[in-house]
Amino acid sequence: MHIQAHVSLKEDTTFHVPATARYLVEIDKQSDIRALRSDPVLAVLPWHVLGAGSNVLLTHDIDGVVLRNRYQQIRLVKEDETSVWLSVGGGLNWDTFVRHTVEQGLWGLENLAAIPGTVGAAPVQNIGAYGTEVQDAITRVQALHLLTGERHEFRNAECEFGYRTSVFKGRLKGQYIIHRVTFRLRKLAHGHPNLMYDSVRERLVGKDEKQLTPLDIYEAVSAIRAERLPDPKQEGNAGSFFKNPEVDADYFHQLQQKWPDIPHHQLVDGSYKIPAAWLIEACGWKGRCLSGTDACVSSRHALVLINRGQATGAQILQLAEAIQTDVNHTFGIHLEPEVIIL
Ligand code: EPU
Repeated sequence: MHIQAHVSLKEDTTFHVPATARYLVEIDKQSDIRALRSDPVLAVLPWHVLGAGSNVLLTHDIDGVVLRNRYQQIRLVKEDETSVWLSVGGGLNWDTFVRHTVEQGLWGLENLAAIPGTVGAAPVQNIGAYGTEVQDAITRVQALHLLTGERHEFRNAECEFGYRTSVFKGRLKGQYIIHRVTFRLRKLAHGHPNLMYDSVRERLVGKDEKQLTPLDIYEAVSAIRAERLPDPKQEGNAGSFFKNPEVDADYFHQLQQKWPDIPHHQLVDGSYKIPAAWLIEACGWKGRCLSGTDACVSSRHALVLINRGQATGAQILQLAEAIQTDVNHTFGIHLEPEVIIL
């Protein structure tokens, strides 16, 4: 366990906005939580969990304890003819883990290539991209209760996964730190590529589908992301800032009458998902900044809010609110942030 006091968090979130934490505590084992709870100073402060800070916007200093899981081991839990089960430390970098799996020829996570963040953060918001959500591969999540330090094991169904959400972001928000996550992955001969997205298929054109490996998909998705999304190392950002909204069929048809080009995707329940990026761009926000600040909408992708250098978290939040107001005014749709705002 490692404890630091009065720490800058500027380099600890991918938005790179200024903020400090009264204490930053890095844990790696289960007993660390109990030890911290017995400390009279730390125990009475509010605790917040931070992974790689790639899906969080800090709008003020944290007058409390910021906790980070450093446990990074990968363990083989079991194996049968078709699959392997890996239990992975929540502190491991997500892409390092995905790269490891595709290099072993394992199917399951290849469409989730190049997503910033940690293994422990992946189930919290059920990361998803190019037709895969991490819930498809997770069998169990081992989490430590922040008050008692007890270890709780959540089976997949108990994680209450949804679109960019889970029980850890919803009902049990702020109560646990994810210690380990168990994944079931398919062996090379027992899985197949998920080519549901045109952009992935187009990248692989000319290749024999039967010969494709998890590494081929990983590389295709990484290349698409590098082209489309701004790199947080160059322009602070947390990927998509809002969720793509869903509207019922009646409302969608009203919108379509007024905006015949509105992109959409029909869901199994008959409702429609509309790309938030399109709504934001249609309101004229793409590439624009909050006046006099470095809080901007990326000119590469309208769903990504960026810090061009000196923006504060409060300014980025103000920008997000201005966008919400405009989209609501124009389309009657409320955009819900995907990013966690602290
Ligand atoms: N579009 C615009 N303007 C833009 C960008 C996109 O109008 O500047 C429209 C286009 O019509 C495009 C559509 O939006 O076809 C969808 O764009 P894209 O394929 O980039 O996907 P997205 O819906 O914006 C979602 C996820 C991403 C994920 C991609 C690919 C959410 C909130 N975001 O983005 O996830 O990588 O699909 O599967 O569901 C993240 O969560 O941080 C993230 C990056």
